[in-house]
Amino acid sequence: MGYVGDDDTAPILLDGLRRLEYRGYDSAGVAIHSSGEIKIARAVGKLRNLEKALEEKPLAGTTGIGHTRWATHGRPTEVNAHPHQSGPIALVHNGIIENHLSLRTRLVERGAKIVSDTDTEIAAHLVHEKLRENGKGLEDAVRSALREIHGAYALAVLSKDEPGRIVVAKASSPLVIGIADDASYAGSDIPALLPYTRKMIFLEDGDMAVLEKGSVRITRLDGTVVERAIKVIDWSPVMAEKAGFKHFMLKEIHEQPRAIEDTLRGRLDREHGDVHGHEIGLSDDDARSIKRVFLLACGTSHHAAMTGRYYLESIARIPTSVELASEFRGREPMIGEGDLVVAVSQSGETIDTLIAAREAKERGAKILAIANVIGSAIPRMADAAFYTHAGPEIGVASTKCFSTQLANLMMLSIWLGKRRGSLDEAKARELVEAMARLPLLMRDVITGTRQLVCNLAKRYRDARDVLFLGRGLNYPIALEAALKLKEISYVHAEGYAAGEMKHGPIALIDSAVPVFVLMPKDRWYERTHGNLQEAKAREGQVIAIATEGDESAHSLSQDVIEVPDVPEAITPFLTVLPMQLYSYYVADFKGTDVDQPRNLAKTVTVE
Ligand code: F6R
Repeated sequence: MGYVGDDDTAPILLDGLRRLEYRGYDSAGVAIHSSGEIKIARAVGKLRNLEKALEEKPLAGTTGIGHTRWATHGRPTEVNAHPHQSGPIALVHNGIIENHLSLRTRLVERGAKIVSDTDTEIAAHLVHEKLRENGKGLEDAVRSALREIHGAYALAVLSKDEPGRIVVAKASSPLVIGIADDASYAGSDIPALLPYTRKMIFLEDGDMAVLEKGSVRITRLDGTVVERAIKVIDWSPVMAEKAGFKHFMLKEIHEQPRAIEDTLRGRLDREHGDVHGHEIGLSDDDARSIKRVFLLACGTSHHAAMTGRYYLESIARIPTSVELASEFRGREPMIGEGDLVVAVSQSGETIDTLIAAREAKERGAKILAIANVIGSAIPRMADAAFYTHAGPEIGVASTKCFSTQLANLMMLSIWLGKRRGSLDEAKARELVEAMARLPLLMRDVITGTRQLVCNLAKRYRDARDVLFLGRGLNYPIALEAALKLKEISYVHAEGYAAGEMKHGPIALIDSAVPVFVLMPKDRWYERTHGNLQEAKAREGQVIAIATEGDESAHSLSQDVIEVPDVPEAITPFLTVLPMQLYSYYVADFKGTDVDQPRNLAKTVTVE
């Protein structure tokens, strides 16, 4: 959040940050131009702590920037909180700077004193360095620094020597500018600015802007001046928080392409058909000597882990078991040195997963955490943390964290497979390229299937039971589809391995039961196709989730939800999307509390 005008800036920044707190809330801070100096206040935890600090020690001034943090690099501590400072520069940043490690080394060699673990502080030092070298002022220094920064950012920067001016810039991460007659605003999202102005400019990637009281000048990184249209926003503040979506869950389903993009950023090595694996915390020798992998998780994360097992076995060729953390605990598991435990947890706090991982550690296994919340308990106890970068997930039903967990499990498998020699060059390249295409493919599937899925939800909203069938990689997706439907719409649903149907659940099928069959073109296709026919023969209402152009699926099913033709390992990323949308729309038609379903909690810290 940024403000430049005539009013006292601290209350405006705090008010804006409060509206952005849903994006992350592990620490917050402001930098304010005050009597020729830049003064900074920061606090760990919720915004309330920063408010208290400012009540005790107010900062007066009419230009300032503020930030509420969702940690991506470095734990949520005051030192890591934004704004970051270097000399006369103060800076806040959303996103991930991919080349922060090499920039850090270079800056330290030239004498920079870097005090935090963040990638953001690197940007502050780099702008400072450019300011000293170029001597042409803040705008020029930011422009030169950005030419060396790779990655995603929305930045807002102040210089002590240029009161009444904020420089902002954007690449990938959102940045909105608010226009008023006597003030200019910047925010990472619409809700922060809505109480002050409805006139907004949405910067494009590669844009920079200089904000002064009542004036905004936008340029590209090469300095060319550009005009961007002013849009008038008519959302209510509540709609704005959800970016215009009715519920956080729907917003988060739609955010998945972006979440995957952030999670893959800086980790795919497309040049070598490989993955940059330093966060995995294993040496190449370790990778070769792992005897077994145990995946520990609960709920939706357990379903991601089940798909992960296919990746680890087929790509890395390591014997892998998937364990419900609550069942693994206390059963005296045969685990020890040479075993790698991957604890998968969105919150990083689930008590069963934490205790199971601890038990495995005590028995000598190495622990790798895959978590979304930086500095949470599981990554803290683990030997290494390979974070997903989905951003805060507000809806209790996990969606974007699930797909980013799949991405990390796939990357882990590619990294191990390459080092163990089980993944050949061509296959590795095929997987890495398919991963890189995922954001676009996912966007297409969401927009392409949304209407049909909504119609199906309307048609089957009153079904008492619903079946989801899948095999292989898509069996966990069938389980996940059923869990989603149960938890938010309170409809009884079963996910089943398609081949198991004839061993029991087929008895459930009659003309009142919708049967969703996940059957992309993969090595299991023919057999799943057979199961679809069996369901149809029992008069089930069959809906296929099939590869585009599958005529046979069309001729046998009531409806077909199509997904693009991709390498089979990639299919779960796509098939899960219409399943999430289906559960969402059924719940919405039923009028349940979609974002906070009854009896559930986002973080389960009870055993
Ligand atoms: C379902 C859901 C839960 C969680 C489970 C584990 O939508 O979100 O099933 O997956 O409680 O939570 P984490 O991943 O935080 O360990």
